[in-house]
Amino acid sequence: MKLDRLIAKHGFLGRAEAHRRITAGRVRVDGRVVMDNQHEVDRFMQVEMDEEIVQQARRALYLMLHKPAGVVSATRDAEHVTVIDLIHDPDRGSLHIAGRLDRASTGLLLLTNDGRWSKRLMDAGSKVPKTYLVEVDADIPPDAVERFAAGMEFQPEGIITLPAELILLSPRQARVVLHEGRHHQIKRMFGRVGCLVTSLHRESIGGLSLPDDLAPGMWRALTTAEMAQV
Ligand code: URA
Repeated sequence: MKLDRLIAKHGFLGRAEAHRRITAGRVRVDGRVVMDNQHEVDRFMQVEMDEEIVQQARRALYLMLHKPAGVVSATRDAEHVTVIDLIHDPDRGSLHIAGRLDRASTGLLLLTNDGRWSKRLMDAGSKVPKTYLVEVDADIPPDAVERFAAGMEFQPEGIITLPAELILLSPRQARVVLHEGRHHQIKRMFGRVGCLVTSLHRESIGGLSLPDDLAPGMWRALTTAEMAQV
């Protein structure tokens, strides 16, 4: 939001009065005077006018969770435990999920309350690679590697999936690298080559791998270095 809009809304000052106060140097963002009406502010910035707090800075949360099987990637669910139920933080109600996993799937899940960050991460254009370890119920056919790489038509979306890498580890186990996140994508792709997924685990997102010491159900804040890896 632009600074003048935030100030104008505060106490119903209106745009003209907001401009007057901003250009008079009465408004501070994160402690620094800002005289640009069009200055972009978000929820994580503290905005003050004279000695009054106009907007209390919100705590930005960037978390990773080792999602266990059976837990739903949703903020609310009438029947099942959700990933949010596993997070013990007073601000957990503000979190949303950056890239869901199916209920039976396990592995690396990112949660945040910063919508701009998650949007950047999930925008189809950003093509952040995600790596999965997959087990299936039948031998993976030899042409599967080519078919994953060529892309598959998905309905009802009416799209062709982006080239995906399929690395065979054994006849019924593979590593898959996706550059997008369509609904049940891996299950649907394996379905096309005649295999049913029996186990699905997300190992990494971008350059960030699930740490070995993060047991299923455990979570922690991302470090600055880890945020850069995503
Ligand atoms: N693809 C799936 O089918 N399920 C997941 O949980 C993730 C990717």
